[in-house]
Amino acid sequence: MNSNHLDKISLFVLILIIVYTFQIIYCQEDKIVALEKRIQDLEARQQQYPEVTFLTYKDRKRILVTGGAGFVGSHLVDRLMLAGHEVIVADNFFTGRKRNIEHWIGHENFELINHDIVNPLYIEVDQIYHLASPASPPHYMYNPVKTIKVNSIGTINMLGLARRVRARLLFASTSEVYGDPEVHPQKETYFGNVNPFGPRSCYDESKRVAEAMCYAYAQQEGISIRIARIFNTYGPRMHMNDGRVVSNFVLQALQNEPITIYGTGKQTRSFQYVSDLVDGLIALMNSNYSMPMNLGNPDEYTIEQFATKIKELVGSQASIVYKDPVIDDPKQRRPDIGLAKSWLNWEPKVLLSDGLNKTIAYFRNELLVKHHSNRNVFFPNEWLHLSNINAMNLDKNIEL
Ligand SMILES: NC(=O)c1ccc[n+]([C@@H]2O[C@H](COP(=O)([O-])OP(=O)(O)OC[C@H]3O[C@@H](n4cnc5c(N)ncnc54)[C@H](O)[C@@H]3O)[C@@H](O)[C@H]2O)c1
Repeated sequence: MNSNHLDKISLFVLILIIVYTFQIIYCQEDKIVALEKRIQDLEARQQQYPEVTFLTYKDRKRILVTGGAGFVGSHLVDRLMLAGHEVIVADNFFTGRKRNIEHWIGHENFELINHDIVNPLYIEVDQIYHLASPASPPHYMYNPVKTIKVNSIGTINMLGLARRVRARLLFASTSEVYGDPEVHPQKETYFGNVNPFGPRSCYDESKRVAEAMCYAYAQQEGISIRIARIFNTYGPRMHMNDGRVVSNFVLQALQNEPITIYGTGKQTRSFQYVSDLVDGLIALMNSNYSMPMNLGNPDEYTIEQFATKIKELVGSQASIVYKDPVIDDPKQRRPDIGLAKSWLNWEPKVLLSDGLNKTIAYFRNELLVKHHSNRNVFFPNEWLHLSNINAMNLDKNIEL
């Protein structure tokens, strides 16, 4: 073999080595790109949480919220979580939705228990916000016997838990304990005008007996109790089809369907925005006041005025139609909030038009949801940097 021949072979080998090396590098790059993609996917799947306040062991409380997956409960859970407490939600999802609290699932301070409070619950807690109960007329009339059980047996169970672990319990009562009131506005000292034998009695009377149970446990067992008599509350995360005035009117206006008023429309109501209620509930829980306390907005509107206001805010062409009045529908409702003002320094802050605009934006989004993967998220604006939370940007996000 001459040297010329040898040179050709070594050149050939060299070329082979270079090609092979490039191939390896190229394959490695492919693998690196694939790996990077996997890491990105994994990161995207990992839940991101809103920043919660750090509380030391001494200040951090373990708080049970029954009905915490519902409308009011989920807003309360947000506030307690952000404040740095450990929050346990017990809910049977009768009217509540996982979606309302899914942004906390997996957080080390949060726990969700699928539990019907008609059965006892054995856990260790410092405070109990007892909200579990169907709340709107179609929901509580759907199974009246169950509604009575939830508020009677369910409340006994929660009071029993409070006694066992020496926790303070706040009961979510209602303005319905005043029935169709003959005193206006309603003060806590008014005993009410309730029909014990009618379609609404399963709710009104079981809330009244639950208040009586709270009183009995406080007197007999020394339990620390708080009773909030909640007046009409509205806001994002309300059920679309719960048959309440706000959701009915907003949905009808958005869909340009006739807005239905039951009765003459001269009956009055007062509406509070949900963040005001949550402020009041937390202030009441942490106060020294243990008698029933009204939490509501004293601004009073006739149902007719309210329908017109919603029509204007939506910019709807919907007509207003009148139907027969509902049995036992109260003629007027307005809280006297003197007690809450003096004991809690609390009064509602959110104007009706501001609260309604947020609620309308939420319902507008709800109507756009067409697939399970669509998310009509409702979060305070400061959470928006969490990319996986803002999964569905249907309309501009709504601020709490
Ligand atoms: N929203 C209002 O205008 C209003 C007014 C007065 C009183 N309240 C009271 O406030 C509380 C919350 O009302 P909301 O408007 O959020 O109603 P909601 O229906 O949205 O929430 C109630 C929650 O309780 C849960 N629940 C019902 N039965 C249960 C059971 N047996 N075990 C466990 N969980 C159960 C539901 O699944 C739901 O998550 C209720 O007690 C209601 O009576 C509300």
